[in-house]
Amino acid sequence: MPFKLGDLRQAFSAYQDFLGKNPPAHHSRYIFPFFAGSYFAYRKVDVRRVAALAKSVNENPSYVDVGCGLGDFLARVREFLPQATGIEKEGGIFEFGKKPDYVQVAGAEQCPAVDVAFVGWMEPGTDFRRHVAKAAKCVITTFDAGGQCGINGGCEYDEFGFEQIAWWRTPSWIDVNAELMNRYYTPSLAAEKKEQLAKLRGAHNFWYVYARPEIAGRVASGLETHLATENAKERYDFESVLDECGFGYMEELSTLTTAKKLWEVIF
Ligand SMILES: C[S@@+](CC[C@H](N)C(=O)[O-])C[C@H]1O[C@@H](n2cnc3c(N)ncnc32)[C@H](O)[C@@H]1O
Repeated sequence: MPFKLGDLRQAFSAYQDFLGKNPPAHHSRYIFPFFAGSYFAYRKVDVRRVAALAKSVNENPSYVDVGCGLGDFLARVREFLPQATGIEKEGGIFEFGKKPDYVQVAGAEQCPAVDVAFVGWMEPGTDFRRHVAKAAKCVITTFDAGGQCGINGGCEYDEFGFEQIAWWRTPSWIDVNAELMNRYYTPSLAAEKKEQLAKLRGAHNFWYVYARPEIAGRVASGLETHLATENAKERYDFESVLDECGFGYMEELSTLTTAKKLWEVIF
């Protein structure tokens, strides 16, 4: 179900109250992701992967972030792909943050033909994949394991004639939020209980990479080449919260049964 502006206004007011209490650095990203971050937690390695994938499609790729919200992730991608743009259906959201000139207020059905489309977290009940599939040669998408696209859950693109190239797992904002709530915002919780809960942490955000069959080989080898020199020491300051909450780069979570290591790419 798409956002309602009235709900967002209420949330924005709570966000302002929260900031007024001088919270620890970067907590707001994971408590108010729409205003201060993104729905999927990411590190600089993710941005680098996305940029490398785009460059494997075309040296000077066209790139659009569909449903970019206020554009937190898009702004990071533009550091490496300055030509990247975004489209966002709900123009009303820009009362909560300035609309960058590289973001167009438009629905996914108006998605331009591009080398790469990025779709970061459609809300449950929203499914604009067929428009994206028509427009892009390569699709990079993130979605929650809890199910977002209709009753079957996943937001795959195989049914639109794409090949899945690779995937990896990171926490969602909800995973990080739960850890922050236990650690900082539930004072009544005993230390021992906090430790027990931390052991149960999960990571429910998947990144899937798809490409049209004719470029699938190129995209897979582009990602492989990039991963050979991936450098997780190059990072954003907000990654400290992920480390602290037990979502380290290549950290293995005992609660997971597949892809136990966060950020590990599976081909
Ligand atoms: C859950 S938010 C995710 C925002 C951002 N990608 C992120 O991960 O933080 C989904 C966004 O998609 C936008 N959206 C929903 N339906 C859309 C459509 N048909 N075309 C373009 N944007 C759409 C919503 O307005 C919202 O800003």
